[in-house]
Amino acid sequence: MSPWALLPLRVFLGGTFLYAGLSKILDSHYLDHTSPLGVHAQMLNAATTSPIGALVSFTAEHPTVTGLVIAFGEVAVGLGTLLGLFTRVAALGGFLLALSFFLTVSWTTRPYYLGADIVFAAAWTPLLIAGDAGPFSTTDRLRAAIRRRRQTNPTPEQGNGAERRTLLWGGLIAATTAALGGAVVALTRRTTTDPKASPPTAPGTASPTVIAAVASVAVGSSTRFTTPNGSAAYLLRPSTDTFLAFLAACTHQGCPITPTGSGFRCPCHSSTFDGDGQVTGGPATKPLTNVPVQVIDGQVTTA
Ligand code: FES
Repeated sequence: MSPWALLPLRVFLGGTFLYAGLSKILDSHYLDHTSPLGVHAQMLNAATTSPIGALVSFTAEHPTVTGLVIAFGEVAVGLGTLLGLFTRVAALGGFLLALSFFLTVSWTTRPYYLGADIVFAAAWTPLLIAGDAGPFSTTDRLRAAIRRRRQTNPTPEQGNGAERRTLLWGGLIAATTAALGGAVVALTRRTTTDPKASPPTAPGTASPTVIAAVASVAVGSSTRFTTPNGSAAYLLRPSTDTFLAFLAACTHQGCPITPTGSGFRCPCHSSTFDGDGQVTGGPATKPLTNVPVQVIDGQVTTA
């Protein structure tokens, strides 16, 4: 087989996983526990259908750590594959990530071959078998450098020193990747939470933000809005003169709730809440989080 045969696959898989990981790190919704687009909501949804639902439920209790492991895992896998650095280890990581996505996110896709994750899992296997074989392999170059050093000075100390440098290079690249990613996450999260960069976040202390015109919310209806700190919420108008608002996060494990007309239902474990946010069916035990609102000059605003 030509040594170039696996290069297109390496470039595609490496580029795709690097892109996927960076997209998650840069997405402000990804680690937001109340966002339906966040990793927490996706895990809670997947836990109800996945064959490894118990494991997914456990990891959903630690959504930030799990989300960061997934995102940085994809970046590390992508970089390792593109650079040809410990390619077999990178391919194993890519295979396990794709397999876990198949067992969770894509598990309900029918027929199975329409889900991309099982195809990605299969696509990693040639690289898993071939390892560092092929062109542009950083590991191969490092090994060749070690061999040259051993030939010119074949003392065990020289060889061990070169081995150590190989490991140091790998560790340095991994640490730099983690540090850069961490800095991006920190900057992204600071941008969304820095009180100098955005309005105050605690309900009741933010400057009023218009949610909707009174006339645009029919009695008995609900409308979705975003609080000043970026959380999803629902505004209800149970009677002509009454407006109520609640965060759209279930108080059981944070899954996004959906309005039912008379209240709310959580699709993850079927908790229900009435129009006052009180629990009418478990497993949730706490009422929905109230968002204070008021009416000023014909506009419903946060209080
Ligand atoms: S997250 Fe479990 S019922 Fe809502």
